[in-house]
Amino acid sequence: MKIIEAVDYKGMSRKAANIISAQVILYPRSVLGLATGSTPIGVYQQLIEWYNKGDLDFSRVCTVNLDEYCGLGPDHPQSYRYYMRTNFFDHVNIPEKNIHIPNGLAQDKTAECADYDRMIAVLGGIDLQLLGLGNDGHIGFNEPNGSFNKTTHRAVLKEETIQANSRFFNDPNEVPKYAITMGIKSIMQAKKILMVVSGAGKADILEKSLFGPVTPLVPASILQLHPDVTVVADEEALSQIRSHGLI
Ligand code: F6R
Repeated sequence: MKIIEAVDYKGMSRKAANIISAQVILYPRSVLGLATGSTPIGVYQQLIEWYNKGDLDFSRVCTVNLDEYCGLGPDHPQSYRYYMRTNFFDHVNIPEKNIHIPNGLAQDKTAECADYDRMIAVLGGIDLQLLGLGNDGHIGFNEPNGSFNKTTHRAVLKEETIQANSRFFNDPNEVPKYAITMGIKSIMQAKKILMVVSGAGKADILEKSLFGPVTPLVPASILQLHPDVTVVADEEALSQIRSHGLI
């Protein structure tokens, strides 16, 4: 595992965007696994800036998003499809047909999840998976649990995650209680993983994830077993790891 330290959020975003742009330049047909949440917004902004300068071409890239809330349609401002459109897809040249996000409105969630895993397999798997880190150690919506959920599934969101995500909604009661998420196996099968982490609030869970025991109670801890993980984090997020002399 490589841990790359950035001074602040902007630095973290630039370094992570550099890694994604290297991937796209070297392998224009890359399958990129993408994440939502507040942390990757700066990464997307940086990629858009370089695209506008003519340094990046996404015309042959395919994307696969980690997750989507159940019950929110693509035009709901808090749906992840809407987030991806407004924060990234509307500003770069990824063909619409190459974009994949779970359908939160699917009637048959079991079929939707199985189809999603099949689609990832047909694409040949994910070349580079971007991840954020949840306050409770979740990745995608794989919440702390008694065991690792393997494949794409309907997840029940933990109260802590609902609380954390309520900042995006007018009324906390509007936060969906379920989501469709790629499973731990789907994430771990990505050839490369890039996790971005920012802020002092993540310092403790980042240390547990990278240096604590590998346990489904801290889902991100499974990343310790992946052969090609890069964590780009700012000084605040790495403060506890640094003060304990782990880097
Ligand atoms: C989003 C996702 C989540 C977030 C996590 C951190 O697609 O999969 O796991 O990465 O909740 O969110 P932020 O970045 O808002 O702290």
